[in-house]
Amino acid sequence: MLARQGATFASIRFPTPRSNTPMGEVVEVGADVKNLMAGDRVVVPFTISCGECWFCSHGLFSCCDRTNPNAEVAIKAMGHSPAGLFGFSHMLGGYSGGQAEYLRVPMADVGPIKVPDSVTDEQALFLSDIFPTGYMAAVNAQIQAGDTVAIWGCGPVGQFAIRSALMLGAGRVIAIDEVPERLAMAEVGGAETINFSKTDVYDELMARTDNRGPDSCIDAVGCEAAGHGAADAILDKVKAATFLATDRVHVIRQAIMSCRKGGTISIPGVYVGMGDKVPLGALMNKGLTIKTGQTHVQAYTKPLLARIIAGDIDPSFVVTHPASLEDAPTMYAKFRDKTDGVIKVVLRPGG
Ligand SMILES: NC(=O)c1ccc[n+]([C@@H]2O[C@H](COP(=O)([O-])OP(=O)(O)OC[C@H]3O[C@@H](n4cnc5c(N)ncnc54)[C@H](O)[C@@H]3O)[C@@H](O)[C@H]2O)c1
Repeated sequence: MLARQGATFASIRFPTPRSNTPMGEVVEVGADVKNLMAGDRVVVPFTISCGECWFCSHGLFSCCDRTNPNAEVAIKAMGHSPAGLFGFSHMLGGYSGGQAEYLRVPMADVGPIKVPDSVTDEQALFLSDIFPTGYMAAVNAQIQAGDTVAIWGCGPVGQFAIRSALMLGAGRVIAIDEVPERLAMAEVGGAETINFSKTDVYDELMARTDNRGPDSCIDAVGCEAAGHGAADAILDKVKAATFLATDRVHVIRQAIMSCRKGGTISIPGVYVGMGDKVPLGALMNKGLTIKTGQTHVQAYTKPLLARIIAGDIDPSFVVTHPASLEDAPTMYAKFRDKTDGVIKVVLRPGG
């Protein structure tokens, strides 16, 4: 596989902005690359996929069987290995992330897509990750026209999930977070909101849905969920701190308890290992469906680029902090601490 990558790589330079995953200009391509040439302006998915294995040929690009050089480690931990991912963990390939002036992109004919001049960098950039992630979360939520969708987390992924759920026909979106500027951005995007540090989420969702519960629930928070005094969340924190569990699954518990009978729970939020006290009895007896996964980015880049060109959505709405690469440490601290109104940082090398 690595020898093959040697001929299928492209090197991308970044005069253009990047979030954690990038876009830029192609400076060099391997001998086997057919679709790209030097000078092309491209967005690069965070998933590295061969395009040929059984999983890629079934559209399951983040499950690619051939791009994780550390597959043995992943198999021991998870039974099977997902695709290699840029800027993730050593278990998923140890590939560096896109926050550098140059990036070597394996399988370059399968991942990067060319961006037309009519689309700005800030409009195209998030096709690399968070726009397809929010969109796939909404697809996985199996939304029927007019449905009520509850979305936990109003970070960048939650913001795109809100807008995608509405694009896919949701009648109502109820977004849950505690950070005022994130709740405000969710409202601008068309959601009703609940502040989970001020309101009991289950009680409020029942009150707003005539006790039926939302038709679909999306967990756009993941394994670092906050719980502010809830007993299960305190236990999660203690267990994670003492290495008895890795993941804080407070939001999954809340989603299972809140979702209407026969509804769907979509989990784009990342979980890494073990969490406990998942109410399996409620999951089973209420007949819920769970759908999840690292995003199959390559399946969504072209259709979502078409949506941007058509004017259905302008993804640049989420950018709150354009900055230079040199500002990265400060921006990381602000993002971690949720200060200065930061929702999404875009780093422009040399900017
Ligand atoms: N599946 C994929 O391919 C994929 C791709 C990108 C990101 N992700 C994951 O999606 C998740 C969200 O990413 P992000 O960039 O938006 O993260 P983020 O940290 O910016 O946003 C998470 C939000 O959840 C809120 N939150 C915390 N506890 C909560 C609770 N109990 N109830 C409701 N909201 C709560 C936080 O206040 C925060 O605003 C992360 O787990 C990230 O790793 C997944």
